[in-house]
Amino acid sequence: MTYDFTTIMDRTGKDSIAVDIIPVPDAKVQEGFTKIPMWVADMNFATAPTITDAIIERAKHPAFGYFSESDEYFDSIIRWQEQRNQVTGLTKECIGYENGVLGGLISALQAFCSAGDAVLLHSPTYVGFTGSISNNGYKIVHSDLVQDENGVWRMDYADMDAKIKKHKIHAAVFCSPHNPCGRVWERWEIEKAMEVYEANDCFVIADEIWSDLLLNGNKHIPTQSVSDWAKNNVIALYAPSKTFNLAGLIGSYHIIYNSYLRDRVEKQSSLSHYNSMNVLSMHALIGAYKPEGALWVDELRQVLSDNVNYAYDYITSHFKGVTLAKPEGTYMLYLNCEQWCREHEKTLDELLKAGVAVGVIWQDGRPFHRPYAIRVNLAVPHSLVEEAMARLDKYVFNCGV
Ligand SMILES: Cc1ncc(COP(=O)(O)O)c(C=O)c1O
Repeated sequence: MTYDFTTIMDRTGKDSIAVDIIPVPDAKVQEGFTKIPMWVADMNFATAPTITDAIIERAKHPAFGYFSESDEYFDSIIRWQEQRNQVTGLTKECIGYENGVLGGLISALQAFCSAGDAVLLHSPTYVGFTGSISNNGYKIVHSDLVQDENGVWRMDYADMDAKIKKHKIHAAVFCSPHNPCGRVWERWEIEKAMEVYEANDCFVIADEIWSDLLLNGNKHIPTQSVSDWAKNNVIALYAPSKTFNLAGLIGSYHIIYNSYLRDRVEKQSSLSHYNSMNVLSMHALIGAYKPEGALWVDELRQVLSDNVNYAYDYITSHFKGVTLAKPEGTYMLYLNCEQWCREHEKTLDELLKAGVAVGVIWQDGRPFHRPYAIRVNLAVPHSLVEEAMARLDKYVFNCGV
């Protein structure tokens, strides 16, 4: 490996909720256990050196006045999308800055929906969608993902179609890859989903923030690439923040080919006058999308694949009563602990606290809509994944309680 994914980074006092906050109410880490941060969706790896180099280089010039996005910024995105996602023909005009992916999503909804309108989402659902969409006055209608005979999460196209018709829905959010289920949708699955949306005149916001984080050789298919209709009716959102651990720097972007959709979204995004780029974040993206950044991501994928493979094998062979689908992308596990809780007469809250007590800072998965779920972030050095599994084995799942 060229880059370092093994050093255990101490993020204490360095602006990080991953270590500063314990997300499980009334839970405490017992003395003698170190904290292993396995919850919020950021990574415990040092980011790609070309990013810090780019920021430092820019910071050496001591003026930070008003600025415009540089051509290098747009060229970096066009090159990245071409080399990583095989997107051809993308031009600067189709790319627009968004502070955050969720902000971009809300601007897109505001551009085309009015208060109380229903929006179709899949469930399990990323909590950020639930909070931002409901806070803005839209009604969320869920179409459940269903696990097939092999445990693979699948879309239920008939259900999507029925709900869209029943609730007169004309806006949908499509999370690809899917958080928290870890699906990297196959082309035929995306095509079928788009056919349902097309048949119902339902525009789509495709959140592709996880599209660089692919495991075990899986391939991301950009939603806009599956048909002409998709190209013209999908608003796609991307960011280097998830890929390179830059959430604290702020900065994402949309790709919208249809000029009518694009103008409406850009106008809406501009209304607050808050949606503007930070100059260091622009240089961070340029540093990220260099060839060295691409190599860093390739190595990261290998590290995350090893972590996911190890944890999946460990859990399925050691933690009886805990089930999960093996993620194909992201770095999240979404555990179903129902059988374990029932057999051990424990509540999910008790289980969550027991994990935190031994330093495994994992996350309640119920807000993502499954009643016995825990979400576990594996973007930590491999040694910490092994340590977390060993502690969960010895002190939590198999301790005889
Ligand atoms: C699917 C998805 N979308 C959006 C976000 C948040 O993006 P942003 O911080 O750019 O709003 C996350 C963060 O975990 C996410 O998982």
